[in-house]
Amino acid sequence: MTGLALKVIHYPHPTLRHVSKPLKRVDRELRDMVAQMFELMYTHEGVGLAANQVDLPYRVFIANPTGDASKKDQEYVFINPVIKSGKGQVAGEEGCLSIPGVVGEVIRKEKVQIEAYSLAGEMFSGELDGLFARIVQHEIDHLDGVLFIDRLSPGQLADVRDELEEFEIDFQSKRDVGEMPTDELIARRLVELETLRA
Ligand code: CO
Repeated sequence: MTGLALKVIHYPHPTLRHVSKPLKRVDRELRDMVAQMFELMYTHEGVGLAANQVDLPYRVFIANPTGDASKKDQEYVFINPVIKSGKGQVAGEEGCLSIPGVVGEVIRKEKVQIEAYSLAGEMFSGELDGLFARIVQHEIDHLDGVLFIDRLSPGQLADVRDELEEFEIDFQSKRDVGEMPTDELIARRLVELETLRA
């Protein structure tokens, strides 16, 4: 293990609103970060995790649609992912490791054609549907600084408003006792990390 010890950050941490930069290089430390992301995803019982969610500014997310840590052949790393096309619309319930406990219904494309690079630097593409298509759209939203709560209907958002406020209060309390860096310090760190690889 090298350098950074990652952890999942919660709404309304500003890095969740950061628009991630494409990766230009994959080095050992990045591979180590991805391995840590898988560990965190399984610990928190998720099926996908984007780099912003562990306070990194890179355009990368991981997924395992089964959520089963023993199914290594279901582990995917998407570097610089792009949705080439999509069709259909389908509503489904979503949650997020950065807003634990909050769920809501989000309309997504039913099928998406995606292109991305693997950790080995190889381009791959495929058409996804079902849960995997939903995960990919949710995670790419993260990379663009978008959260699933941004896509809720006004009624659904009103339903979770109190829970979101709890997260906002918690964040402010951490700020007040100096456990949470200022926005300026958080932004400066992201720029430093971008300088290394993006
Ligand atoms: Co999420």
